[in-house]
Amino acid sequence: MSTPIVTRRKTPADIRAHKGKVPVVSLTAYTAPIARLLDPVVDLLLVGDSLGMVLYGFDSTIPVTLDLMIAHGAAVVRASQQACVIVDLPFGSYQASPADAFRASARVMAETGCAGVKIEGGVEMTETIRFLVERGVPVLAHIGLQPQSVNAIGGFRVQGRSDEGQAKILADARAVAEAGAFAVVIEGTAEPVARAATAAIDIPTIGIGASSACDGQVLVIDDVLGLVSDIKPRFVKRYAELAPLITAAATAYADDVRARRFPGAEHVYGKAS
Ligand code: KIV
Repeated sequence: MSTPIVTRRKTPADIRAHKGKVPVVSLTAYTAPIARLLDPVVDLLLVGDSLGMVLYGFDSTIPVTLDLMIAHGAAVVRASQQACVIVDLPFGSYQASPADAFRASARVMAETGCAGVKIEGGVEMTETIRFLVERGVPVLAHIGLQPQSVNAIGGFRVQGRSDEGQAKILADARAVAEAGAFAVVIEGTAEPVARAATAAIDIPTIGIGASSACDGQVLVIDDVLGLVSDIKPRFVKRYAELAPLITAAATAYADDVRARRFPGAEHVYGKAS
C-alpha cells in the first residue's frame, strides 16, 4: 500500500519566521484554477480585494462585499494545499469597531478555511489588530498606500515622500508589529521608508511597489501574467504577456466556427457505447 503524501500547509507563524531569512514569495489568487497553479511555488496566497478591480471591473476596491471575498476565498483554499491563504476584509466590514472586525473575520475564517485576514490601516487599527489576535485571528496588516482609503487620500499615490509621510509609515509599521500582526504589507511606498520600516520591526514586511528593501513581495497575479492590458503599474515586472495570446486563441476559434470547423459529439466525448 502506498503512503499518501501529506502536505503541511504553511501557517502565519511560518510566514513570520521568514524575518531575516528567506524572502516571502506571495501572489494574489482569486479563483481555483489559478490557486492550483500558484500553490506549489508561493509561500502566501492573498485573496485580495483587488479582485473588485481585476475581476469585476470596479474602479476601486470600495464596492467589494464580504460575501464576494468569502466565495473567492473558499475557492482558493479548496484548490491549494501548501500555501498560507489570507483573505482581505473588505471596506466597511471592520473599520467601525474591533467587534465588527471580529465578526467579519470569524465568518471569513469559518466559511473559507483560510488562515487569517488582512486589514488596511496603521496606528488607528492597533486596537482592532490586538483584539483580533487575542481572539485567535492571525492578522496581516497593510500600510503605506491603502486602496480602501483612495477617496480620502485623493488617488492611488506613492506614499512616504514627505518627512511627515515617512514618519507616519514608520509609526504605522511599529504600531501594527507591536499590536501582534504576523506580517505587514507595505504598498506604494518610497524605498528609504520601506527600508527603515523593515529594519525597525521584527515581523516581515511584504512590499508591493515598495522596493526590494522589504522582506518579501506580493503582486497581483493578473499584472504578473500580462492579463491586464490597459493599466500597467510601473513597479510590476511582467513574467508573461497572456492578453495577446488570449486574443489570438479567441480569434482562431472564431475563424474555425465561422468556417464550420467544429467537431461532432463523438469527437469531443468519445463514441457512445
Ligand atoms: O487587494 C490586494 O490584492 C492587495 C495586494 C495588492 C497587496 O491588497
